[in-house]
Amino acid sequence: MKKRIAIFISGRGSNMEVLLRQVREGLLRDSCSVELVFSNCPAAPGLKIAEDLGFLTSCIPSAGKKREDFDKKVLEFLQPLNLDYIVLAGYMRILSPLFIQAYARRIINIHPADSRVFQGVGGYAWAFEQGLQKTYITVHYVDEGVDTGDIIAQRELDMRGIKSLQELEEKGLALEHEMYVEVLKEIFEKDRV
Ligand code: GRF
Repeated sequence: MKKRIAIFISGRGSNMEVLLRQVREGLLRDSCSVELVFSNCPAAPGLKIAEDLGFLTSCIPSAGKKREDFDKKVLEFLQPLNLDYIVLAGYMRILSPLFIQAYARRIINIHPADSRVFQGVGGYAWAFEQGLQKTYITVHYVDEGVDTGDIIAQRELDMRGIKSLQELEEKGLALEHEMYVEVLKEIFEKDRV
């Protein structure tokens, strides 16, 4: 059975775009169906990309709303979709315990650093400023902390020879795109319940 998923975004949506293309015609075709692309930001450029690709999108603006009130609304909205997984792809809002508990171990995130060492936003800038030789991309379950959930997979990003933050971000994003598809495919296919 294909897993029913929603992809959550807040901005650009480059990971989302790769996932949608792979669902439509690539590696993820047989393992999941995207029931919804959801955003908390009406201006998220990724919403238009998803629409143009023919996927259902929806936005509930979160600005000015209390975390739990907003999450309750989103939970109500998602309920009829009967989702198996929620895939975060640049979703910039911290989820409340209420939300996490409703989808325990079924919310997955990609984080542009080793989540054991660096949490929060700015993973590439952090790695660049540290002058590291290598950093990691992490795919993890989302728990009640920020980037603290159990690690599902990590891939190494070689930083030798990288001259600018922009170069690092470009190289890192390319790895994210490749990795997220492959790791999600494995998760969805292993989960046969
Ligand atoms: C990515 O670097 C991802 O790892 C992080 O947020 C960024 C989202 O980029 N969680 P995009 O919207 O997928 O282009």
